[in-house]
Amino acid sequence: MKGVVLAGGTGSRLFPLTKITNKHLLPIYDRPMIYFPIQTLVDAGIRDILIVTGGRNSGDFLRLLANGKQFGLNHINYTYQEGEGGIADALNLAEHFADGHKICVVLGDNIIEGDIRQAADRFRQQDTGAHILLKEVHDAERFGVAEVSGDHIVGIEEKPARPKSNLAVTGIYMYDATVFDKIRTLVPSRRGELEITDVNNAYIREGTMTFSYLDGWWTDAGTFDSLLRAANLVAKSSPRSAAEDEAAASTEGAVRA
Ligand code: G1P
Repeated sequence: MKGVVLAGGTGSRLFPLTKITNKHLLPIYDRPMIYFPIQTLVDAGIRDILIVTGGRNSGDFLRLLANGKQFGLNHINYTYQEGEGGIADALNLAEHFADGHKICVVLGDNIIEGDIRQAADRFRQQDTGAHILLKEVHDAERFGVAEVSGDHIVGIEEKPARPKSNLAVTGIYMYDATVFDKIRTLVPSRRGELEITDVNNAYIREGTMTFSYLDGWWTDAGTFDSLLRAANLVAKSSPRSAAEDEAAASTEGAVRA
């Protein structure tokens, strides 16, 4: 399975932080945001990765990531999204890269505590279709929301005013090669974008969508509040932060002594 990180968009919800740089280059505690989705893919055993980016700062991704040595990679692929067509439009640019293989797509602002290895291994065994990861949240209206009946997914609504469940569809999607045919049938939504939720509903209608529940915390980082939340969650689970706490405690101890 190959990996795709979607890191385009204008980041308008984070303006003016995104006036001079791309959202996915902003810091989350001790790392640029884009490090997290790449690490998620690498931890799932995926080594062939495409970054889809766009806008004026696209060259900065190449300068930051180069060939991915910091992730143990020898090579990273890059492509450029012209304009603002939404997540499914950005994904469309991965068709040539995917070259008939399955893909695991991670939105560039999605950060997880654990890993998706089990779900990825399960999807590697699945002949066709798609697999998504769901997470219980208390603010479902901010996300794609899944309606589930037993082990069956009935449908997904994008940012519903009255969510039918508290199960958010996380920005981690696994697709077979028919995803690109499905994208070609989409029409822009009310916000003028090709929605990833419409792609997922096409798989659900076809009866080939499976899902699992994501373990550990999950957050996006596309608004001021979620950006802060992401930094705090990452800091709390970082060995660096634990080491600094320990150093601070021993300095305090020394001062007191
Ligand atoms: C997108 C998707 C939404 C999904 C979310 C996860 O939303 O459209 O279905 O739940 O990512 O982060 P957006 O990027 O508009 O927040």
